Amino acid sequence: MKAAAARVLMTGASGGIGRAAATELRAAGAQVVGVGRGAQAPAGVLVDGWVQADLNTPEGVLAVAQAAATHRSNVVVLAAGQPCFGAFAQTPAAEAAAVLHSNLLAPLLLVQALLPQLQRLPAAQIVFVGSALGRIGVPGYSVYGASKAGLHGFAEALRRELAGGPVHVQTLAPRATRTAFNSAEVLAHHAATGTASDSPETVARALLGLIESGAAERYIGAPERLAVRLNGLLGALLDGSFAAHRRSLPGPAGTATHAAVAATATTPSTP
Ligand SMILES: NC(=O)c1ccc[n+]([C@@H]2O[C@H](COP(=O)([O-])OP(=O)(O)OC[C@H]3O[C@@H](n4cnc5c(N)ncnc54)[C@H](OP(=O)(O)O)[C@@H]3O)[C@@H](O)[C@H]2O)c1
Repeated sequence: MKAAAARVLMTGASGGIGRAAATELRAAGAQVVGVGRGAQAPAGVLVDGWVQADLNTPEGVLAVAQAAATHRSNVVVLAAGQPCFGAFAQTPAAEAAAVLHSNLLAPLLLVQALLPQLQRLPAAQIVFVGSALGRIGVPGYSVYGASKAGLHGFAEALRRELAGGPVHVQTLAPRATRTAFNSAEVLAHHAATGTASDSPETVARALLGLIESGAAERYIGAPERLAVRLNGLLGALLDGSFAAHRRSLPGPAGTATHAAVAATATTPSTP
């Protein structure tokens, strides 16, 4: 739908991408109600309303569902997320569980709570913010990639399940984006592997375009779009492309080896 007709409810509105998206959507004429764990929208986050909610709790999900009803939200953008980077062998089980909860289970439960009211509207859109890493497995992102792969798979199935009804399901898949989401370790890994990144404003424009186009999904970055297609067709053929990503992971004790690896890395850059 056109932005001017959109009454957007957006999780992750206090984050780097959410903040830029709220500005972009409002400039195009949308109303935006943001969701975050803080009591109010952080300074510089331009929204028409704010919901304080921890999406990992039933109370938070209920608060967002009530706000969506109050504001008659017809576009839901699920941009809240939690990062996870590092060798899987050194990833604490509690961290893996928390990431899967935040990035996969929480959006599923929120959508389940919102669906009845969205299905009563003449037209509504649900936009999941996934990741290129949800379609391409990259060393260092096994848990994060699993959470986003789950989200992509859920969105695809839900889109087909709801086809013919008023609720349209879409997925936006950014590649690396310059926000606080990425730690210094991740940035060093990007540098060592030649990983390209976008500004949050670029992602915000892609989100607006996705909402207005009604397309099922949008991947940001031409190399990533190609890699996603190749990976889907012939994934094993890409296995050899990730040696630099693998070798430049931080060591078991958290000792970064990026500089040494960057000097010897010979594999092509990847998403
Ligand atoms: N940055 C990237 O490189 C990149 C690339 C591809 C995809 N993505 C995806 O894009 C989305 C936004 O990322 P970003 O870069 O904007 O991250 P960010 O700046 O770190 O923001 C994360 C957002 O998630 C919210 N959040 C996290 N856990 C929450 C919870 N339990 N309840 C409520 N809100 C919660 C945070 O809200 P609080 O204010 O409550 O902390 C914050 O608004 C994420 O889904 C991420 O996976 C990011």
